[in-house]
Amino acid sequence: MAVTGWHRPTWAEVDRAAIRANIQNERTHLPENVALFAVVKADAYGHGMVEVAKTAKEAGAKGFCVAILDEALALREAGFDDFILVMGAVPQAFAGVAAQKRIAVTVFDIEWLTGLAPLPTNLDVHLKVDTGMGRLGLRSMEAVREIEAEIAKREDITIEGIFTHFATADQLETSYFEKQLACFREVVGSMEVRPTLVHCANSATALLHEQADFDAVRFGISMYGLTPSPEIVPALPFELRPALSLYTEMVQVKELMPGDHVSYGATYEAEEREWVATLPVGYADGFIRAYSGFQVSVDGVLMPVIGRVCMDQCIIKLPREYPVGTKVTLIGGPNSADVAASHLNTINYEITCLISERVPKKYIN
Ligand SMILES: Cc1ncc(COP(=O)(O)O)c(C=O)c1O
Repeated sequence: MAVTGWHRPTWAEVDRAAIRANIQNERTHLPENVALFAVVKADAYGHGMVEVAKTAKEAGAKGFCVAILDEALALREAGFDDFILVMGAVPQAFAGVAAQKRIAVTVFDIEWLTGLAPLPTNLDVHLKVDTGMGRLGLRSMEAVREIEAEIAKREDITIEGIFTHFATADQLETSYFEKQLACFREVVGSMEVRPTLVHCANSATALLHEQADFDAVRFGISMYGLTPSPEIVPALPFELRPALSLYTEMVQVKELMPGDHVSYGATYEAEEREWVATLPVGYADGFIRAYSGFQVSVDGVLMPVIGRVCMDQCIIKLPREYPVGTKVTLIGGPNSADVAASHLNTINYEITCLISERVPKKYIN
């Protein structure tokens, strides 16, 4: 059982107003008839699935996209009766469960269909076309037509949608994107019947490319106020408002003497008298060892994490003595998820997804 640390001063704060603003701005940016589906997989990218889903719905999201069936079931369990699509592979054995819960699933090859036992009730499916991502999906027009023909023979499956996913939508250079898009249009155009929901856009595509020919967008990272990539920031149609901040408090403050060491391996050595603080957060919280050297902040003043990050604690160097209990921003403000991503040599998606269940989430606004 995962235990959440409500009795420890380390927490993630999620600003609902930021999520609402990001969705409303995107809604204004989209043509009226294009639905926004909130991508809430992976515990809403670490922001908390149920709370984010509630907030997204209030702000105009018309449904949800998740990666695995369990996430969809958790949304149903929480009382959401909206459209839900599982974008990842659902084992055939669970197609009946999806059908009973009115959860749409992704069909990405013919083998999944042939051999699927008759279902207790109708199952909505979205065909996934691999137009160049090379991940999940049907790789030719013929494969799509074959699936269409197979489904036409059955009374228990409806093709509700067709979709694809872009490999380079977060890049300013669009030639590969254009190729994928043209391929997708061609495949959709070749279908016997155009499904109700034709969709291709993740955040980057929804922000940067016209969606008038499509029926929905799958809005993920930018609903949380983060850019799909640093290079497209100048091209964004509106300012994104990051929703998540990660905080902790100093639990011990002490003065080191020259030659004193800090943390495992004694890798950090004080060169002069200096003030340090111990923070109750570590790699088990998702504040991983690679955060060593990262600058956290106190009232906007940056301070480095020194020595090795431990499982539950880490140490920062202070510019002066601070009182125990001083609030420290681990992620947020000048040390944003983007700055953290750059320090960790990764992407902002991973920064928020890393935050573990041990960290409680507090929702504001
Ligand atoms: C198929 C698919 N669509 C949409 C998204 C949402 O992407 P983003 O978070 O970049 O908006 C994802 C997320 O990885 C995805 O896998």
